[in-house]
Amino acid sequence: MNRTLSLQKNVPLLALNSFGIAAMAQFFLRIERAGQLLQLRDDATLSAMPRLLLGGGSNLVLSDTVNALVVQLALMGKRVNSEDERYVYVSAAAGEKWHEFVLWTLQQGLGGLENLSLIPGTVGAAPIQNIGAYGVEMQDYFHHLTAFDFQTGETVTLDKSACRFAYRDSIFKREYKDRMVILEVTFALPKTWQVRLNYGDVAQFLATKNIVQPSPKDVSDAIIVIRQSKLPDPAVIGNAGSFFKNPIVPAVLRDRLVASYPSMVSYVQTDGSYKLAAGWLIEQCGWKGKSLGRVGVYPKQALVLVNLGGATGAEVRQLAQQIRSDVRGKFGVDLEVEPVFI
Ligand code: EPU
Repeated sequence: MNRTLSLQKNVPLLALNSFGIAAMAQFFLRIERAGQLLQLRDDATLSAMPRLLLGGGSNLVLSDTVNALVVQLALMGKRVNSEDERYVYVSAAAGEKWHEFVLWTLQQGLGGLENLSLIPGTVGAAPIQNIGAYGVEMQDYFHHLTAFDFQTGETVTLDKSACRFAYRDSIFKREYKDRMVILEVTFALPKTWQVRLNYGDVAQFLATKNIVQPSPKDVSDAIIVIRQSKLPDPAVIGNAGSFFKNPIVPAVLRDRLVASYPSMVSYVQTDGSYKLAAGWLIEQCGWKGKSLGRVGVYPKQALVLVNLGGATGAEVRQLAQQIRSDVRGKFGVDLEVEPVFI
């Protein structure tokens, strides 16, 4: 066994997952330098174990015992990299907290990421599901990332097209799952900033504050207040953010549903299909504010499942399945779960 990697056994994961599940890692390794990944790869015993990469733990539902090597990515550091006529390029290591990074870019006088304020999790996890909120997705400002390739042992650079970003999706959830470890992400932040207020809530909030020409910081402050009013703080109530993706359905199905439910929320997509509001569908099924076992549906936002205290992964799975089956039964729509079940 390599002595410079300090392998731990039976490590509690309660504080390392935002849903607050009292799981235990059979084996645990904290990575603070990229070079340790190469050591891990070269270690015959460790590299043969199934692996779970852990960032902020905010998109996970854990089982009681994780029979794997849990690898916590704690690479830190952020910097202004370079600039050209149009952009300033900033980079952050995978272990940095996303929200702190966003605030830091604003402190540097750089706008772009403000709509993504207060999203839990780490910088390294952000590209995996292409985090998004209030009309902006991470891919809008993404430039490239570096990743450690477990297959070859090399560090690779991947540009935007290589990452195949889509709504809450990327190649890291697919072909590169279990293969690439994101080390550092670089964003291109525009020198000429334009506010993005296509999401009603934010414009409304700024109007009530009489802010006519908002700065990136004003938008960030507004989004922090809006999120805090709708979404539970994982430090207080365990949760994994939106538990389901907003489903994208063909126009025929959406039209048929609107005919029966005129108040149904939907957003047309560029290809003519429609995104439905999963929170609305779940609320219509009567689940908002309800619970099953020790897992509840958040009373202010039905898309968020919460830990009512001591919930297990199995209980979360059970409620998620019940909700999916009710939504399928009532609307004929399949909800896709957003967090990963381990
Ligand atoms: N709605 C209901 N009932 C509910 C919740 C929502 O009727 O209980 C309706 C709302 O009235 C609104 C629509 O659904 O008309 C959309 O609701 P909201 O603006 O709260 O956003 P969302 O679609 O539920 C998405 C993201 C969030 C993101 C917000 C704001 C997904 C899966 N979720 O939620 O992302 O913060 O938009 O942009 O796309 C996350 O991914 O973890 C997350 C929190």
